[in-house]
Amino acid sequence: MNIQKIKSDFPIFKRLINKKPIIYLDSTASSLKPKEVIDAISAYYTEYSVNIFRGVYALSEEATEAYGNARESVSKFIGAALDEVVFVRNATESMNLVANTWGEEHIKEGTSVVTTVMEHHANIVPWQVQTKKHGAELRIIDIDEEGDLKLENLDKLIDKKTVLLAITHMSNVLGTINPVKDLIKKAKSINPNIVVLVDAAQSVPHMKVDVADLGCDFLVFSGHKMLGPTGTGILWGKLHLFEEMPPYQYGGDMIKEVGLYSSTYKNPPHKFEAGTPHIAGGIGLGAAVAYLTKIGMENIRQHEIEITRYALNKLNEIDGIKIFGPKKAQDKGGVIAFVMEGIHPHDLAQILNEDNICVRSGHHCAMPLHKKLGLIASTRASFYIYNDEGDVDALIEGIKKAIKIFK
Ligand SMILES: Cc1ncc(COP(=O)(O)O)c(C=O)c1O
Repeated sequence: MNIQKIKSDFPIFKRLINKKPIIYLDSTASSLKPKEVIDAISAYYTEYSVNIFRGVYALSEEATEAYGNARESVSKFIGAALDEVVFVRNATESMNLVANTWGEEHIKEGTSVVTTVMEHHANIVPWQVQTKKHGAELRIIDIDEEGDLKLENLDKLIDKKTVLLAITHMSNVLGTINPVKDLIKKAKSINPNIVVLVDAAQSVPHMKVDVADLGCDFLVFSGHKMLGPTGTGILWGKLHLFEEMPPYQYGGDMIKEVGLYSSTYKNPPHKFEAGTPHIAGGIGLGAAVAYLTKIGMENIRQHEIEITRYALNKLNEIDGIKIFGPKKAQDKGGVIAFVMEGIHPHDLAQILNEDNICVRSGHHCAMPLHKKLGLIASTRASFYIYNDEGDVDALIEGIKKAIKIFK
């Protein structure tokens, strides 16, 4: 991978702030956008910014086709059928959609939902609400010292009454890549009726993910973490589940037939897409998928292993640092959460900001995990296709500068 060439595709890197370049190490929160994506969005707004589906005129047909092509690109990208890909606003909305439709029908008194301590709030709060509302039990898979899931007692957590396993593919803090394929097999051998939702918000942008290969029932992710626009997300689900689920929202575009007192609804995915969608966003997401495909997901994963290995080695040389999650780069995604003895994560992030080094500090929407680690906050640096060793070196220099200030 030619990182300099890739970097030149991202107009934001032409910016200087206080005459210094931007060192972007926060792609786990949101990725930057290449020119191809910005151009695709801009082309929609300048050349054919009309509504889809309903128009019979050329511009509307053009917009409808572009939006349809985007859905096709996304489905191919994850090995899915076209009618199993629902466009939503973000991964969070996907989880809430499932909780409020499928969850309403299946999470009942006497049942249980299993999730993990390393989840993003988006994959824990909706299940807290649904289990409380219906008198069901929420069970949590714990982690070990390395930040791996403790799976020895899985058959005590999952049983015949467990209706849902909601699990992240990759932790947005520890970087742990969970063995979801094996886990799904195990869960389904304990209870063949269990439904598995995989939170792929951190995996789909960074590695090859194929829904059939994983064997899950729902898979969710966000467009803005994979070079696409904000306000775009995907809910993938097995067609038979989508068919039995009630709609999430009601109104235009999702109906088949409307009478004064009752209505019928379209087939999936349109049944779950009420109202005018984020047309430009969907088209932008299609362009993002094309860009990632051009680079190759295997190449992206390999690059992230290499840069993470380099960063782990350099960070481990610093006295007083504590790094969380798997120790080996090949066992984790390109995200490193750490704390520095004697320096609050927010102070560290602020000092790094003096040199335009963008990292995140806080709980990263994973409060239960931080509690488990005995922390209120951590600093998180994350990598993507446009990061190179120079960015890691800048981070190391920034941390050394903070150490000098605070000691
Ligand atoms: C693992 C994981 N799940 C879910 C989300 C929620 O994504 P969004 O805010 O785009 O809905 C995030 C965002 O950071 C995440 O890292």
